Amino acid sequence: MAVFPALFGFFLLAVVKGQVVDITPREAVRRVGDELIVQCKVPYPIDSCRMTVGPNSYRLLPTNQDEEVVYSGNGLQFGECGGLIKHVREEWNGNISCVVPPQSGSIELTATMQLTVARPPLQPLLITDTHQSSFKEGDYFMAQCVVPSGRPAAKVTWYLDDEPLLEGIHQAVIRPEPGSDLKTISQNLSRTLSADDNGKRLICRAEHEALDGPKDVARQLVVEYPPKRMEAGQITIFGLKIGEEGRLNVTVRANPAPTASWTVGDLVVSPRPAADDAAVVALEPEHLGGGYYNVTLILQRVAKEDVDRTYYLRVSNELGQEEFAVRLSTMDEPAGVELGSGAIAGIVVAVLILLIAVSLIVFAKATDRWCFGGSRSRDHTKNSGESTPAGDVLIERGIPRPSRTSDTESAAGQRSRLAALGARMRAVLPRSKDKVQDTAPETRDEEQGDEKKSVVYAELALSETVEKPPPPATEYAEIVYTQQQPAAETKE
Ligand SMILES: *[C@@H]1O[C@H](CO)[C@@H](O)[C@H](O)[C@H]1NC(C)=O
Ligand SMILES: *[C@@H]1O[C@H](CO)[C@@H](O)[C@H](O)[C@H]1NC(C)=O
Ligand SMILES: *[C@@H]1O[C@H](CO)[C@@H](O)[C@H](O)[C@H]1NC(C)=O
Ligand SMILES: *[C@@H]1O[C@H](CO)[C@@H](O)[C@H](O)[C@H]1NC(C)=O
Repeated sequence: MAVFPALFGFFLLAVVKGQVVDITPREAVRRVGDELIVQCKVPYPIDSCRMTVGPNSYRLLPTNQDEEVVYSGNGLQFGECGGLIKHVREEWNGNISCVVPPQSGSIELTATMQLTVARPPLQPLLITDTHQSSFKEGDYFMAQCVVPSGRPAAKVTWYLDDEPLLEGIHQAVIRPEPGSDLKTISQNLSRTLSADDNGKRLICRAEHEALDGPKDVARQLVVEYPPKRMEAGQITIFGLKIGEEGRLNVTVRANPAPTASWTVGDLVVSPRPAADDAAVVALEPEHLGGGYYNVTLILQRVAKEDVDRTYYLRVSNELGQEEFAVRLSTMDEPAGVELGSGAIAGIVVAVLILLIAVSLIVFAKATDRWCFGGSRSRDHTKNSGESTPAGDVLIERGIPRPSRTSDTESAAGQRSRLAALGARMRAVLPRSKDKVQDTAPETRDEEQGDEKKSVVYAELALSETVEKPPPPATEYAEIVYTQQQPAAETKE
């Protein structure tokens, strides 16, 4: 809504000042010799049309199409004042204006666009702050690409071989050249060199409207590093056969090329020509490409004791050396430990169950509650333990039991089993001594004579139970006696 008054105000201002000439395009880049159409339009019929191109002002007549700059459009009666520039000239770089008569008054109206006459830049330059020809792995590398004297400024992109480089590219800086309208662009690249960069071409590519194709400047990267192995851990050569030729091959990476020597017991074996009669032959490291080398030791006949030995491979180049222990095995290479999805699911489920069990126990322990033991046992205390003096131990015999209601009995039996489980757990859990445990020996002594009963239910009405209304009061312990006669056992 606020737009409307603003628009209206602008329109009013435009009418008052007479600035209603619409020009397209507002900017254009053309090569020398190219064609360009600039279109101006006013919302009323006009009777004349002029265009200023470079130092000249051209009068454009729809009937005259012979000049370098001629009329273009549907006609003056539609308010159209367009110019066709047949061949753009170098010196026309700059502003182009159209001039039309006003709707009223006598001041002519103009509109201006900007033509950039493209001029190809000079050869791009790749500048590095060091003159060293090779780098070490991990070196910080900085390069600057400069593409001078373009109009407009050239566009710069970076490649590593064919791969576009996007990381480590700094902001491009465009500087005008003093005393001309040409522009020089420069862009920096920084990179931590890796072994993979070795041998690759770092390319700075300049692209420009005035160039038929991109112009490249490149530099080959040389990155050196000491020998290393890609895989960590013990090297074991599998599948060797006693009595047959054995090939111990280890793949290492190094730049420059490594030299290798093997230590077999007291013997040091280095590659040397024409040593084919020897029992142990070391081969020259063989380049596999990308800085990887195959280093091989050949045992003409693998003996039993060879398999028990440890072979030491020493690989070195100008930057360092590395020693690897190589063991042999007559077994086939074991397949990697691959777990099927079923096995993984099984492990996950097992772990989950374990976690749930542990957390349940911890929770029960923390709240001092074993399942539904809490509230029910209090009732039970009322039933059976009210008359009992605090701290006394009442022993409930299995058979026959004291006179009680049958439902209480069965409930008590269930509870006792649960409580017994709890008591056992408590005995296992590393908390302070349990009351059941404390009193259990007494109970045991009392019942020692009764050999027929194997299970004794002990209800412990504790002193604090009576004093404090919400008691972790009654506890049941299942006391299982070790019996002389196993047949007498009545446990379920
Ligand atoms: C070109 O036109 C712009 C406005 O559109 C003006 O600022 C600039 O000074 C002009 N340049 C020349 C060389 O006339
Ligand atoms: C680019 O690197 C040159 C030196 O190589 C340095 O002078 C210049 O400040 C750097 N420019 C940017 C934008 O990092
Ligand atoms: C030895 O060469 C074989 C291929 O011939 C290759 O599979 C194996 O990985 C190499 N052993 C080592 C330790 O590089
Ligand atoms: C390494 O060289 C040995 C001996 O020439 C060959 O048996 C083995 O296959 C080669 N290993 C690789 C990975 O090229």
